[in-house]
Amino acid sequence: MDSVDFDALEHQAHAKMPPASFAFCAAGADDEISVAENISDWRRLRLRPRVLRSVENVDTSVTLLGQKMSTPIMVAPTGRHKLFHPQGEAATARGATMAGMPYCMASNSNILIEDVAAERKAAPQWFQLYYWPNRAEVEALIDRLHANGFTALVLTVDAPVGGWSPRAAREQHEPSPDILNINMPGSPMARTAYHPDFAGKVLFPATWRELEWLVKRSPMPVLVKGVLRADDAVACAEHGAKAVIVSNHGGRHLDTTVTTAAAVEEIASALAGKAEVYVDGGIRRGTDILKALALGARAVLIGRPAIWGLTMNGADGVRDVLEHFRVELVRAMQLTGCASLKDITRDLVAD
Ligand SMILES: Cc1cc2nc3c(=O)[nH]c(=O)nc-3n(C[C@H](O)[C@H](O)[C@H](O)COP(=O)(O)O)c2cc1C
Repeated sequence: MDSVDFDALEHQAHAKMPPASFAFCAAGADDEISVAENISDWRRLRLRPRVLRSVENVDTSVTLLGQKMSTPIMVAPTGRHKLFHPQGEAATARGATMAGMPYCMASNSNILIEDVAAERKAAPQWFQLYYWPNRAEVEALIDRLHANGFTALVLTVDAPVGGWSPRAAREQHEPSPDILNINMPGSPMARTAYHPDFAGKVLFPATWRELEWLVKRSPMPVLVKGVLRADDAVACAEHGAKAVIVSNHGGRHLDTTVTTAAAVEEIASALAGKAEVYVDGGIRRGTDILKALALGARAVLIGRPAIWGLTMNGADGVRDVLEHFRVELVRAMQLTGCASLKDITRDLVAD
């Protein structure tokens, strides 16, 4: 996929998706201010490139949770992939495998954990957990994930209740027996948190106590996703989290939060040596990835662009999007004088 196609990708995916699927993918909470600012805040940062460095051979490898990966790019957990492609998360997982990048499968997936695990090769698969009210069901899920080779649990903490999205509310998708939250107890039809039935209900009642329990109970390392403050990030590490994902859920639940570009540096500084820091939200260019790493993130996650690729061309589309990000990161590194990720230092970004 070349840059011209990548620029048009969202439009192409929009044209191909049923309107309700596009609304679900694009949705942000309320006035979608955070959706827009997530993107514009990376773009606003200015680079201070170094010159006359040897950049013929660029190494983008990184260690994530102790495993060496070829790039600092991962697929963010996003739900309900059968809305976008008939093969759903199996195609997404295969695309990530082809790109050699970690895939974080969402709780709200439409494909069985076992079938996603079957797509795994060298790159790890992680699972995003919403903490369900019934602890026995969470335990059964943890054991099933571990038995299927998943190597990390990502606890999402930024949406104890669903936010409200006027866009998604206007275009509710019809619940369908083909599109189930198939890994949830009872495999319910996959309605989104924006459905009026859920308004105001605490769907995922995790607190610090549940995080502590999860860390003890899980044989897999636990990561916390959806942190925007250094004090919370430090508390996550103190409660045993191995990594924190700086995220505002792609602006989908609470609008007008600080952007992840604005929050990541403070959190990375506070967590130095205590836990790894990843970031997502609005990453659309290789230069965005470079800026995120310069501000202290160890890796980034890609949300909506992977869905656009999935919509257009299934597993190959996901692979192409991820590969495009890798190519852009390499180019951004060469143009800023970086031969490896350790060269991507804070001073590359203007204050
Ligand atoms: C359609 C869609 C569904 C999502 N579902 C989940 C989810 O089930 N769990 C979760 O932790 N985050 C979910 N997210 C948030 C993503 O993991 C990620 O934080 C966000 O998409 C990153 O922003 P970006 O889309 O601008 O790259 C979802 C995002 C989208 C677009």
